[in-house]
Amino acid sequence: MTPSPDDRYEPPSSFVDQANVSDPGIYEEFERSWPDCWERAADLLDWHEEYDRVLDEGDAPFYEWFSGGKLNASYNCLDRHIEAGRKTHAALKWEGKRRETRTYTYQDLYGEVNEFAAALRELGVGTDDIVTIYLPMVPELPIAMLACARIGAPHSVVFAGFSADALATRMDASDSEYLVTCDGYYRRGNAFNQKSKADNALMTLDRSVTTVVVDRLGEDLDHSLDTDQYDYGDLVLAHAGATVSPVARDAEDMLFLMYTSGTTGQPKGVTHSTGGYLAQAAWTARAVLDIKPEDTYWCSADIGWITGHSYTVYGPLALGTTTVIYEGTPDYPDRSRLWEIVERNAVDVLYTAPTAVRAFMKWGEEYPAGHDLSSLRLLGTVGEPINPRAWKWFREHIGGGDCPVVDTWWQTETGGMMITTLPGIGTMKPGSAGPPLPGIGARVVDEDGAEIDPGETGYLVVDRPWPGMFRTLYGDDERYRSEYWDAFSTDDEWVYFSGDGATVDSEGYITVLGRIDDVINVSGHRLGTMEIESAIVGVEGVAEAAVVGGDGGTNDTAVYAYVSTDHHHDPNEELRERITANVERAIGPFARPEQVVFTPELPKTRSGKIMRRLLENIANHEPLGDTSTLRNPEVVGEIEATERDQ
Ligand code: WTA
Repeated sequence: MTPSPDDRYEPPSSFVDQANVSDPGIYEEFERSWPDCWERAADLLDWHEEYDRVLDEGDAPFYEWFSGGKLNASYNCLDRHIEAGRKTHAALKWEGKRRETRTYTYQDLYGEVNEFAAALRELGVGTDDIVTIYLPMVPELPIAMLACARIGAPHSVVFAGFSADALATRMDASDSEYLVTCDGYYRRGNAFNQKSKADNALMTLDRSVTTVVVDRLGEDLDHSLDTDQYDYGDLVLAHAGATVSPVARDAEDMLFLMYTSGTTGQPKGVTHSTGGYLAQAAWTARAVLDIKPEDTYWCSADIGWITGHSYTVYGPLALGTTTVIYEGTPDYPDRSRLWEIVERNAVDVLYTAPTAVRAFMKWGEEYPAGHDLSSLRLLGTVGEPINPRAWKWFREHIGGGDCPVVDTWWQTETGGMMITTLPGIGTMKPGSAGPPLPGIGARVVDEDGAEIDPGETGYLVVDRPWPGMFRTLYGDDERYRSEYWDAFSTDDEWVYFSGDGATVDSEGYITVLGRIDDVINVSGHRLGTMEIESAIVGVEGVAEAAVVGGDGGTNDTAVYAYVSTDHHHDPNEELRERITANVERAIGPFARPEQVVFTPELPKTRSGKIMRRLLENIANHEPLGDTSTLRNPEVVGEIEATERDQ
């Protein structure tokens, strides 16, 4: 995984010559003028009222950026582009699962966002009311987000693949009384019912929820509306032509909430601000993704996760570009689907996940080779480490051998990119994300917080605040502080801990190795092992369970569950099915364990702690290291034998 020192790639001069950012002096300039350097990001936005201060550290680690400033995110993503005479420019290009296409110009998008904003208001949504959005990749998803932003109502988008239980937990935790969902969507060509999941979630909530339902499937799936449920199309029609003036929000007002998995069972409501978040999303979309207004840009991530928020919706639209939204999967109806979309739309910049790249590589180069991909100028990845072989394959077979590839490290909590090369400046080293972006204080340290030597492994921390940083965990300032700031902060310095392990080389390039806490990344989905474990131990017959990230083939991570049964139950297929079904019910099908390994006991230390690290080694076919601290060492051999037999 670690890059070889000779493996270096320079961006081609054809790229550098046109890059938005190509002056290497930017690193020094940002150091010299920090934190004022971030005005460059704020300058990409239109402010209703100028801010007084760039950074306020008074109440650290509850930092404030651009205090006193007022702005509206929907205005920045729509109105100002129309005012600049670009109303007929394409804002959204939607590619449906059944090859339907829809294009929204900036004027179209502005129109529908306003109409839906007016409808939301009429339904009673006020400033600061949290609106939950539970939609697949349909245009109504970004429209609903922007409509909320317009009226100053924070949105909380819940990935459409989450189960009813997971939706209910998130709505409950955020006291959300409004929901935007749909009747259903197509999954691999079949109609799949989303509304029944939403209805099941609503039944468990002890308050009434006003719900809007987008009719995605028409006659393919009948649905009915209960009291307090409204049809999206009817609402928009009833408000045809309505405009709603954008509510001026304080820079620090919450733009949205995004639930993410942490180290305990309870998901965390990561809150993002309006000013700092939008500034960093726009700035990095410009500097790293090199987005120009005339580009067609495609980020393949689902908008239900942070990548889609920052780099399908807010960053690209703030820059006035054309952003592509694809509803389907890369291999349906066939493995050329993405390349056909790139060719037909002449996509300039493609941002995707390493797991996708590895799948393309496995399928073979004949699929991209059958399409003209010469429109591509830049490629990017995010979500997990990209191994050098996949990086090179991506550059060669998708990027035509000369596109720069940016490997970007960041998190739901950081709001925007933090570590990557700047494509118009930096030497790229496959397998390493790169140096911290200008102005970003990312470092790799040892347990005591001291910077490590090149080549050693340590903890990835950030020792200076940044504009896009989350402001707190919704309703839980204490957890914000204890989970992220307690581990490495000292008396005179606040240090953010990312939860990742990393190495650094002699040129300051950081290679992120992955989570060192109880969070695993499965195909770009961030899962808390505790959440899955609690779903498993809720199954009758299960005594104990431990979940780790294990080998999913071709460098992918899969969910491995180690389970012991109580003495009334035998481990058998029926129990295994109930376990899997319960995980799907509690979280969603994407969290389904790839392996459920029954074991008479879980490996435990003498003090009774489950040795997850050891299970992780077993699940990854790695040497086991020291097992002498185990109370029950014999169980290791038993687990290995069971796994071999499966
Ligand atoms: C991992 C996604 C290595 C990391 C934007 C992080 C990466 C987690 C990279 C955040 C990368 C993200 N190289 N690992 N370039 N990018 N990660 O919150 O473990 O869904 O902590 O945000 O993904 O996942 P999240």
